[in-house]
Amino acid sequence: MSENTFLQDVLDGLNSNPKTLPAKYFYNDQGDLIFQQIMQLESYYLSRAEAEILSTYSGEIALKMKNDSWEIIELGAGDGSKTQTLLQSLLEQESDIIYRPVDISSAVLEQLKNRLEISLPGLRCEPIASDYFTLELKESDKRKRLFLFLGSNLGNYTSQSIITFFSLLNRLLKKGDQLILGLDLIKDPNRILEAYNDKEKVTSEFNFNLLKRINTELQSNFDLRLFQHWATYDPVLQEARSYLISTEERTYELMKGAYRISFQEWEAIHVETSKKYSTKQLAALAQKHGFEQTAQFQDKVKDFVDVLWTKL
Ligand code: AVJ
Repeated sequence: MSENTFLQDVLDGLNSNPKTLPAKYFYNDQGDLIFQQIMQLESYYLSRAEAEILSTYSGEIALKMKNDSWEIIELGAGDGSKTQTLLQSLLEQESDIIYRPVDISSAVLEQLKNRLEISLPGLRCEPIASDYFTLELKESDKRKRLFLFLGSNLGNYTSQSIITFFSLLNRLLKKGDQLILGLDLIKDPNRILEAYNDKEKVTSEFNFNLLKRINTELQSNFDLRLFQHWATYDPVLQEARSYLISTEERTYELMKGAYRISFQEWEAIHVETSKKYSTKQLAALAQKHGFEQTAQFQDKVKDFVDVLWTKL
C-alpha cells in the first residue's frame, strides 16, 4: 500500500466532522499481532464460535461441493487457520480445488502458503496479492468459484461500501457460484460490548496502535497519553463502535508539521464499526445482492453464523 494513500486517508478522516479513521489501517505487523491476542480473549467469542461452526459443518459443506471443480477465493485469509478444516474436508472428498487466498500483504500470503504446504500437502495454493476492491481474476472456464469472506469482516463495512463490495464481487461470479459469509449475530448487548471493551484492555491497545502507526509512518506527534479508548454498542443500529477520545484541546502535526489537526477537549475519532446481523436480515441481504441463501450454519449457542449463498 502506498504511503500516500495512507496519508490521504488519514488527513481526509481527521479533517472530517466527526473525525474518523479507516479500520483497515489497524492491520500493520503490530496490529496483526494484537488482533491475534484479541482472538484469544475469553470475551471475544467471535473467532471461537466460527471455528466451532467450520469444524462441525465443513464435511457437510464439502459434500455440497462434491462433483465439481472449484476455485476457492478467500478474502482476508489472515493466518488461514479457520479455513484449514474446510480445505481439509474438500481434499478428503477428492474435490478438485485451487485455493487462492487474497491479501494486500504478499509477506502474509507467502507464510500462509508455506504453512499449508506442510499441513495440507497436495493442496494447490495460488495466492493473489491484491486489495479486495481491485481484485482481478483470470477467466476460469471450467471451474466454479467459491468466495470465502469469514470472520465478520463485512461487519466493518459501511452500507455504501457493502453495496460497492457486492457489485464488484458480482462481476466475478457466474450463476451457480457460491459465497460463504461469516457474520456475528445480534445477542445480549452486554456480551457484544464486552467483546470490544475487554478488561484486559487488548482492544484498547489495538485501537491505540493506529495512532502509533500514524506517529511512525506519517511522522506525527499524537500524544497517546491524552487519548482514551471508548467502546459502545447501539442495539438499534446493531453496531459496536470504537472511538479514541482526546481528553484535552490540542493541535498535532503530521509529516513533520506539513499538516496540522486540531482537537477540542473530549473530541472523538471514530475508529471502527462492527455491525451485527439477525439471520432474517442476512436472508434479505442475500436477495438484495442477487443471491439465494442455500444454507446457514450456527454454533451451538447461536453467537455466529456462516451463510452459504448461491449466485442467481
Ligand atoms: C476482524 C473486523 C471482524 O470487528 O470484530 C476485533 C476486528 N476490532 N476487536 C471485529 C476487531 C476489535 C474484528 N473484525
